[in-house]
Amino acid sequence: MAPRRSDRPLTFLGIAGSLRRASYNRGLIRAAVELAPPGTRVIPFDLDGIPLYNADIEEVSDPEPVAAFKAAIAAVDGLLIATPEYNHCVPGVLKNAIDWASRPARHSVLTEKPIAIMGASTGRSGTARAQAHLRDGLTYTRGLVLPLPEVLVGEAHSRFDPDGTLIDPSIGADVRDLLVALAAWTRRLGRPVEAAAS
Ligand SMILES: Cc1cc2nc3c(=O)[nH]c(=O)nc-3n(C[C@H](O)[C@H](O)[C@H](O)COP(=O)(O)O)c2cc1C
Repeated sequence: MAPRRSDRPLTFLGIAGSLRRASYNRGLIRAAVELAPPGTRVIPFDLDGIPLYNADIEEVSDPEPVAAFKAAIAAVDGLLIATPEYNHCVPGVLKNAIDWASRPARHSVLTEKPIAIMGASTGRSGTARAQAHLRDGLTYTRGLVLPLPEVLVGEAHSRFDPDGTLIDPSIGADVRDLLVALAAWTRRLGRPVEAAAS
């Protein structure tokens, strides 16, 4: 018997907006992979290969890393994004990847995709401003961003080891709670992944 929709395991794509090897935000995504609650799974996706958005190139065809990124988004139930904060805003690496994924406008793989956001920075506000910008920008993609809870990891240098591995269990609990909420949000929206891929 096929599982009921509420029983079906959910898969989320974990995206960190940093290319740094020991990135705290990559560490947050790794923590999410390890701490994913029962019935959920997080698959990390690295943005390393995504070129700068260029409409002339897009008009011919998506570069292979972009096509792979879009396919990865289409294949999952939702997204879990960990953003750093650069100058109170979203780093270009992440914004650029979202811009590629948001095309074609109104019919992209982000349309009606459940999304949760979190972030770590060395400042005290823990990416609060970057997350506000990210939430705002995702509105136009028609992605459906989970309102709460917020996961704002400030003074990240004291919460991760030098390799970028999370060492603060209270943050791990916050990440897990966010995934629980994202799973409930995804089930509430009731959008089967098959529709996302079409
Ligand atoms: C260009 C630049 C701008 C930054 N601006 C901010 C900022 O506005 N607020 C903040 O808390 N940290 C800021 N930082 C520090 C980042 O929080 C820190 O580099 C962090 O490690 C980036 O995330 P990552 O570890 O995932 O790469 C900035 C860093 C860079 C390189």
